[in-house]
Amino acid sequence: MSDSLVIREASPADATALAELLEVFNKVPTTPETAARRMEALKATETILLAFMGGAAVGLCSVRVVPFLSEDRPYAEVTELFVRPEQRRRGIARALMARAEAVALLKGATDVFLMTGFKNATAQAFYRATGYGDYALAMRKKLS
Ligand SMILES: CC(C)(COP(=O)(O)OP(=O)(O)OC[C@H]1O[C@@H](n2cnc3c(N)ncnc32)[C@H](O)[C@@H]1OP(=O)(O)O)[C@@H](O)C(=O)NCCC(=O)NCCS
Repeated sequence: MSDSLVIREASPADATALAELLEVFNKVPTTPETAARRMEALKATETILLAFMGGAAVGLCSVRVVPFLSEDRPYAEVTELFVRPEQRRRGIARALMARAEAVALLKGATDVFLMTGFKNATAQAFYRATGYGDYALAMRKKLS
């Protein structure tokens, strides 16, 4: 991993950098205004982390920590993880996840949950390499 890697929490001033990353990740045009609006909506429940290499934003990770009805400890879930293709296999996602786990632990969570695609072999390999294992079957129903 390069010495110039910096991981920090995103602030409203990062809306443009976040929008650029989300656009590459989701392949959907995303304006800074959209990114800023989502950051504002998420701020009570989610911590958005950005990775910078040489000052440029190269990755993101978002971790949601919310109350849990069945337990006193909160529920923590990594909801987004992305590293720019040209920066992969340099330990950036590993560093982002380590920080996300530290955030979850600090907020009282003892487990971190996440979902990934059945066919996303890269993400599955990454998560297994960083200590994650099968836990449940994720299901979804489209409402509209
Ligand atoms: C998954 C992803 C975040 C990994 O990012 P990364 O910065 O390249 O990951 P790291 O360099 O920290 O990899 C850590 C370890 O994970 C494993 N790993 C990562 N990418 C891998 C791949 N393509 N194939 C096999 N193992 C892989 C390796 O064990 C790796 O360690 P190593 O490089 O020393 O062998 C990145 O590929 C990505 O952004 N993919 C597209 C978005 C995505 O699918 N996100 C997850 C949505 S649920």
